[in-house]
Amino acid sequence: MFKTKMTELFGIKHPIMLAGMNWITDPNLVATVCNAGGLGILATARYTPDELRKCIREIKSLTDKPFGINQMLLMPGAQEAIKIAIEEKVPVLNYTLGKPWFIDQVHAYGGKVLGTTALAKHAVKAEQLGCDAIVITGHEAAAHGADATSLVLIPTVASQVKIPIIAAGGFYDGRGLAAALSLGADGISMGTRFMLTRESLLHENFKQLCLEASEQDTLYDTVFDGMPGRALKSKGAIVLTKRGFPVIDAFKGAMQIKNMLKLSMAQFVGLSFKMMSADDESSPLWVQARQAAGVPKHLKGMYEGDKEEGVLFAGQCIGDIHDLPTCVELIDRVIKEAQEAVKNTSAKMQA
Ligand SMILES: Cc1cc2nc3c(=O)[nH]c(=O)nc-3n(C[C@H](O)[C@H](O)[C@H](O)COP(=O)(O)O)c2cc1C
Repeated sequence: MFKTKMTELFGIKHPIMLAGMNWITDPNLVATVCNAGGLGILATARYTPDELRKCIREIKSLTDKPFGINQMLLMPGAQEAIKIAIEEKVPVLNYTLGKPWFIDQVHAYGGKVLGTTALAKHAVKAEQLGCDAIVITGHEAAAHGADATSLVLIPTVASQVKIPIIAAGGFYDGRGLAAALSLGADGISMGTRFMLTRESLLHENFKQLCLEASEQDTLYDTVFDGMPGRALKSKGAIVLTKRGFPVIDAFKGAMQIKNMLKLSMAQFVGLSFKMMSADDESSPLWVQARQAAGVPKHLKGMYEGDKEEGVLFAGQCIGDIHDLPTCVELIDRVIKEAQEAVKNTSAKMQA
């Protein structure tokens, strides 16, 4: 058993978080991780407000343990999603990309605010703003890490903040958990590893592609959704890196997102301008266009298992993942391996 600032802060058994992953984290996966002693996080971007409220209530019906939601603050519908999470008194509000305006409201009902960033300076800022803990994402990660790898980012941030640090990016086993704790983190967040479990909604075709992949089989590029991000080197991902700017796909994808989120054209255009004009982490139009063009391809990969056109965010750790355990098996295994790793490391010290 590990007792860290992360387990203490959230009142959970193990210092392991299920990273919020749009399209992958559903109420069942979130609750399963919580019931296994970890911290499950539901990514909200794919849901309408009504669907989100339903999902939150479903999680509450499946577990009495703390859980969280993950919201990209610059995405369409962010204000509304945060409002719903607060009304539902969600125990943990995990945000990325943007400034959290809701910290006091969350603290008022005893909830916790968890920032996510890939830059040390933003981790410092999150602490100054009053966040309770911070997830820091290394370059190895699926989706949006920045340039620094976890090996450098964790100690750098640990030297600068006092709030609990949850390390993300490249963590998939107990050796990684032990290493993260040694580097100054208080726990780990796993995305790719939880995506490759039995309970995960990822299509079997893409689970198999990940199991067969090596640590070299990812691509880091802006073509997947406009921001620098890491995806599995699938045929669809390779094509995207070689193609010019996808004007027609962007238009079609934008309409698909608008319909999915049940937005009027005026609401959709308004949100687009808001995303362009956000001061700190704004999304220029070309980034939004890439996002719009990317979404259908991600859906083709994750849900349809389309090996030709599908795209899937995945981390470098796919190279050493060879099975599809249940979440309970995975968490138990990671904890046992971490204990073993700590013992083995101690045994290497001379008296
Ligand atoms: C399919 C997929 C979807 C993701 N969606 C989100 C998201 O909606 N919000 C977010 O903050 N991070 C998202 N991420 C990134 C994860 O939260 C996390 O940072 C990353 O998976 C950690 O690195 P790892 O994959 O090496 O464990 C996503 C990752 C994957 C694999």
